[in-house]
Amino acid sequence: MKEKILDLLRQDDFVSGEKLAEKLGISRTAIWKQIKSLKDKGYEIKSVKNKGYQIISRPDKPFPDEISKKLNTDIIGKNILFFEKIDSTNIYAKKLAKEGVFEGCVVVADVQEKGRGRKDRSWSSPEGGLWFSVILYPRIPPENAMIITMAASLSVVEAIIKNTGSKPVIKWPNDVLVNGKKICGILTELDAEMDQINYAVIGIGINVNNSISKELYDIATSLKIQMKKNCSRVELLADILNNFDKNYSYIKSGDFKFIRDAWFLHANIIGKKIQVNREKDRMVGVVSDIDESGCLILKTDIGLQRIVTGDVKFL
Ligand code: BTN
Repeated sequence: MKEKILDLLRQDDFVSGEKLAEKLGISRTAIWKQIKSLKDKGYEIKSVKNKGYQIISRPDKPFPDEISKKLNTDIIGKNILFFEKIDSTNIYAKKLAKEGVFEGCVVVADVQEKGRGRKDRSWSSPEGGLWFSVILYPRIPPENAMIITMAASLSVVEAIIKNTGSKPVIKWPNDVLVNGKKICGILTELDAEMDQINYAVIGIGINVNNSISKELYDIATSLKIQMKKNCSRVELLADILNNFDKNYSYIKSGDFKFIRDAWFLHANIIGKKIQVNREKDRMVGVVSDIDESGCLILKTDIGLQRIVTGDVKFL
């Protein structure tokens, strides 16, 4: 009902309560109640006696209704769940995936109280950022899972370029940096058999208009800091989901090369001397390739090494 009212309200003129009630087949009191609840959600709506209602502004919160009307997708975002506060969108998405929710379901939150990063790190998720998870059931073996994360980081980069004009860079395996500082992290969690992924939850965290804590200031940044103005979370999320849907369709049709090639354009890593810190060791070498499944091929003193995961430091 709220969605229908929002469709009927105008930014340039008033719409009377009577007209809204007539169009929607409900009483004027019911309209008034819906308007009040929209105002509580952050919609600025002017009401003037004998004229009706006029919408002044919409909140920049990633509400499903606002996102859905900007989507043009086959799979991703057909179902969007929004939470003002949640422990972690990945935790909730994994529960849904286990229950077999429709593929492409998106869980998005304004605040995460236990946001999770890679390697069991915590992920700061205050108000103003974009914290969301996408549930997929890709029919590919688990060793190829990295291609999904690559498609996700590619989708984020394409959307940031479109919305801000800034030049993000992908840092293998899945960080997105702007001016050398991290703006986005991706945590892909899998449930898989030996030869088949049961589900993949792709959790994406982007610093948009949120504050960055002092301890992170040297390594992290936000779009607001970079652009010196607020960036629309609604536009950004809708663009990411549209891009991800398109990029995921290549994976579904087995065309990993398209994703890999497009990803390379933004990664700037080949030929670079790096150190990869892994759980139990570290390796130094020059990046010679990223293979079909997204693993790093490193030329080291002991020959070519295939790196599945780790933290990269440029030397
Ligand atoms: C990283 O360590 O770089 C990955 C960070 C991933 C954060 C996102 S925010 C949405 C989703 N929910 C979580 O708890 N984590 C991911």
